[in-house]
Amino acid sequence: MTAAPIDIQHAARLLEGGGLVALPTETVYGLGADAENPDAVAQIFAVKERPTNHPLIVHLAPEADLSQWASEIPDEAKKLVAAFWPGPLTLILKRAPHVPAAVAGGQGTVGLRCPLHPVAQALLREFKNGKGGIAAPSANRFGHVSPTTAQHVRDEFGNDARIGAILDGGQSEVGIESTILDLSRIATHGPVLLRPGRIGADDIERVIGAKPAAPDAAAPRASGTLESHYAPTTPVLLVLTAEIRPILRKLVRGRRLAAVMRLSPLPMPDALMQIAMPGNPESYAHELYASLRALDEVRADIILIEEPPAAPGWEAINDRLRRAAHDTQSGMGKYLLSRL
Ligand code: TXA
Ligand code: MG
Repeated sequence: MTAAPIDIQHAARLLEGGGLVALPTETVYGLGADAENPDAVAQIFAVKERPTNHPLIVHLAPEADLSQWASEIPDEAKKLVAAFWPGPLTLILKRAPHVPAAVAGGQGTVGLRCPLHPVAQALLREFKNGKGGIAAPSANRFGHVSPTTAQHVRDEFGNDARIGAILDGGQSEVGIESTILDLSRIATHGPVLLRPGRIGADDIERVIGAKPAAPDAAAPRASGTLESHYAPTTPVLLVLTAEIRPILRKLVRGRRLAAVMRLSPLPMPDALMQIAMPGNPESYAHELYASLRALDEVRADIILIEEPPAAPGWEAINDRLRRAAHDTQSGMGKYLLSRL
């Protein structure tokens, strides 16, 4: 933990006064505001340039009383809280009446999560004596790559005076956003996995005895589940291991500059810049967003990502990579490749 107690007290007072504070969590950094203050919540949407119908996650202290925030708490929720909180799991439950609709993007539900990061926990305990909730989306501009360091947050928002403080808690350990599980319609639809994360469908099934379903058309909206999301500025293309070297050679012959995120051990001589990613999904996730940002910064014509295996444990990573590549995969990337 790097933020000093005095910084945490200062940040808590800023939040209580309706201000915005960026905070570290074990998944990614969040941009926080008092969840019970609709004006403060409105500031988050303004700073992020996020559509106001996209709901925010409310972060709670470990001692928080869930019944203050959710009007119905099914047994499955209690079991999952006991098993995975504090940790990278967000539960969507029916919203308690006093929670402002603005937090939930106007929906009748609320997303709740208790983070594991010591700085986030210290802040939540200091803020409103541990009885408040901090609404916090990832601290990035809408649709962009989530931040996993305090410097990433500064890179996203520069010196935006609307952000009162940025608490530094080092590099986020998990590196990708929390798993989101909808339990708000459990009686009729069962548990629904809205966004995969470190905690997988199998982990959830082990605890509640039912495998979560994929989202149906009527499932609550989640912006992290938009097809195009988590995207760098440079076009991203996902390529199979067997194709990456031939594609690189063609790009270079066509005087295109490529940055490469590879899993293969051998360096690729034709790349402007390359990052070798770890071979296990936990370490890969930890490095993913910092690597995407670094590859984006060299301003290549394209970022080529060697597709990870479609194996158990890689679901959340493949989900994020698909979204990072979505616009390119369907448009610019196809065009570029067709011209090689
Ligand atoms: O790991 C995380 O979840 C990070 C850290 C900061 O906690 N937060 C995060 O927030 O990723 P954000 O806003 O970038 O993504 C939150 C997702 C969005 O896709 C949002 O739509 C969904 O959670 N969400 C929040 N409340 C919801 C609700 N009531 N119903 C459905 N989806 C909800
Ligand atoms: Mg986000």
